[in-house]
Amino acid sequence: MEQYAIKGGVPLVGEVEIGGAKNAALGILAASIMTDEPVLIENVPDVRDTQAMIQAMESIGTVVERIDKHTIRVIASNIHSRVVHGDYIKRIRGSYYLIGALLGKYKSAEVTLPGGCNIGTRPIDQHLKGFRALGAKDAGVIGGGMIVAHADELKGAHIYLDMVTVGATINLMLASVMAEGQTIIENAAKEPHVVDVANFLNCMGANIKGAGTDVIRIKGVPVLHGTEYTIIPDQIEAGTFMFAAAVTKGDVTVKNVIPKHLESISAKLIEIGCEIEESDDAVRVVATKRPLHTHVKTLPYPGFPTDMQPQITVALGLAEGTSIVTESIFENRFKYVDELTRMGANIKVESSTAIIEGVTNYTGASISAPDLRAGAALVIAALAADGYTTIDDIRYIERGYEDFDLKLQSLGAMLEKVDGERELQKFKLKTG
Ligand code: EPZ
Repeated sequence: MEQYAIKGGVPLVGEVEIGGAKNAALGILAASIMTDEPVLIENVPDVRDTQAMIQAMESIGTVVERIDKHTIRVIASNIHSRVVHGDYIKRIRGSYYLIGALLGKYKSAEVTLPGGCNIGTRPIDQHLKGFRALGAKDAGVIGGGMIVAHADELKGAHIYLDMVTVGATINLMLASVMAEGQTIIENAAKEPHVVDVANFLNCMGANIKGAGTDVIRIKGVPVLHGTEYTIIPDQIEAGTFMFAAAVTKGDVTVKNVIPKHLESISAKLIEIGCEIEESDDAVRVVATKRPLHTHVKTLPYPGFPTDMQPQITVALGLAEGTSIVTESIFENRFKYVDELTRMGANIKVESSTAIIEGVTNYTGASISAPDLRAGAALVIAALAADGYTTIDDIRYIERGYEDFDLKLQSLGAMLEKVDGERELQKFKLKTG
């Protein structure tokens, strides 16, 4: 089984190109099947999650042509089924966007319940409530783990979300974009990827206003047409490299980013003692000393992202003094702390709060990636640790980070993907 072998202690230095936003791509890929005309999408990250989504689209008759590594053409004029199932689709959270897309286009959808990272219970009641309000009276989960939604007709509705949810906001935009009349989504999520999916739909002829605020207004249009679109850069991939710079006392410039999307991340890096330089489409992080302690609470955008919570915890684990990290989005997102403790961290988790007593250094250990972001955070910890670390279950990391190993190597990291003891020994000989 492949794992990362890492020898820590090298400050990361250099420039790294950030790819397209995975969580925008999942919504945009689903949206692309809503027209019969060809759609060209650029800056699609080539990661396991988007690969699974493309497989799901193909399984119902969508033609997906790969123009180059990050550009695809989607032709969805011959979709032959409204039912999407298969093991690959269970693995990704974003598979539920196919319900909104199929319901919106064909008024009928059946999709296997999504999987994704195990970071909490992750209910979909808000999605289903919205589908029902739009006219899919039977929307719900049936036996065999399928989500179903069928409607005779879809009519605009006024939908109040009980909590800020990215998934339901995007799914309800998809389902309502061709509904008759006006839909209003109140308490909508404001994440950059929500805005990106709305912009993409508008390029296809939709009439969506207010994305990026907490009230989104959608006037139904009869049909969507083909378009060409470039996905925004990935806020979380960028943030992960920024924290890698902070934790290894490095000097890293993340390129091809939208600095505005990174403000909450940059602000925390400044608080813990890093220097930040912003230009139009790049952010440079310079860290020269041990991180300072601070407190942080994850919040919906523009707050500090839950998807950056493990990375900042890893940094604060090395800070002088006590820091408190509060997770307010998902109830089970501190599982990685056990692994970090094996590397010498001193962190106590009490329900949704981690109380961190900073240590001076981490020590290499044999650990596993429990989920995508926590896996990436543990890699960062290993890059700063004394000695060697091996990280198993890197398939989780590959769900959302393209060429993570190659990008880190280009910044000077001593990290390699190894398969088996012999390759591990070779890596140790080379780096010893
Ligand atoms: C999206 O998940 C992202 N996934 C997550 O990224 C991200 O952590 C999360 O948004 C928050 O930003 C994708 O975009 C594919 P939510 P999602 O709906 O849509 C509760 C990553 O690492 N809720 O915004 O599933 C829910 O339990 C992943 O890339 C309900 O109660 O998250 C949570 O507490 C991990 N009922 C909160 O809302 C619902 O019907 C926010 O969830 C829906 C959500």
